[in-house]
Amino acid sequence: MSPEVESKYTLTDEAFRELRDIIYKTSGIFYTESKKYLFESRILRRIQALKLNSLYDYVNFIKNPANRGELKNLFDAITINETYFFRAEQQFESLEKIIIPELIKNKAGTPNPTIRIWSAACSTGEEPYTIAMIVLEKIKPLNPNVQFQILGSDISNQVLEVARNGVYKEYSVRNMSELYLKKYFISKDGLFYLKDDVKRLVRFSNINLFDATQVRMVSNCDVIFCANVLIYFDIPAKQKVVSYLYDALNVGGYLFVGYSESLHGISKAFKLVHLPKAIAYKKE
Ligand SMILES: C[S@@+](CC[C@H](N)C(=O)[O-])C[C@H]1O[C@@H](n2cnc3c(N)ncnc32)[C@H](O)[C@@H]1O
Repeated sequence: MSPEVESKYTLTDEAFRELRDIIYKTSGIFYTESKKYLFESRILRRIQALKLNSLYDYVNFIKNPANRGELKNLFDAITINETYFFRAEQQFESLEKIIIPELIKNKAGTPNPTIRIWSAACSTGEEPYTIAMIVLEKIKPLNPNVQFQILGSDISNQVLEVARNGVYKEYSVRNMSELYLKKYFISKDGLFYLKDDVKRLVRFSNINLFDATQVRMVSNCDVIFCANVLIYFDIPAKQKVVSYLYDALNVGGYLFVGYSESLHGISKAFKLVHLPKAIAYKKE
């Protein structure tokens, strides 16, 4: 690479830090120096779309308060969106067999019992749709009078568009049983189209978990899944986000985080609950 090309498409340490600070302040996502290459490769598309000349120009562009709208595209470019159906199998089993039955019991006698489940940072929708399929397959037949509201949210509009379309590749369905695959998808030309009765159960919204005003729009949740996103935050950001999630939960509600994540050193507000195959955090 000639020195000119190299300087156009690589970030100086200072520019990297400026961009990283903007991302951190607006989303809580914290990138260490080792992720500089990721910025460089992923932001290239934005430079081309905006017809800018270099990464340096992009940093100046996004620093300008008049260009704050570009943040949405930046989040699309830099987030890591790995997910698939039934990813947290044991948590979903606990949800079906222990938590939802407990919630239904606690709500018995109330008019129009409704269970509200939020998949925060749902990426392309596999997590909230897994919950919707479990509700349709296992819960609704036994509890036809209980209503379910399932919300899927993410900071990236691009992944939410995929979620709303509900069309998936083999990769997403690889961990699913034949029963769910056959009953709730139409398979055509190597793609898997989620059926409307599942899609109808889930509403999607763009919510930045680091933004108190946006998170406050969600309340009275009985269960929150916030999986595989806290790992991208530093400790103060985790503390902030987890406190918002606490506020969004009903008393008696549960929070699930990813298998490699924990609230140790982050929050003492929850009670740690050991379920037979998973752990959850309960708001008492
Ligand atoms: C690895 S995916 C996890 C998907 C799913 N929860 C799972 O466990 O399979 C992480 C998602 O978090 C989203 N994300 C990152 N920072 C966020 C923030 N501040 N607010 C909301 N979503 C965020 C990303 O866009 C990405 O789609």
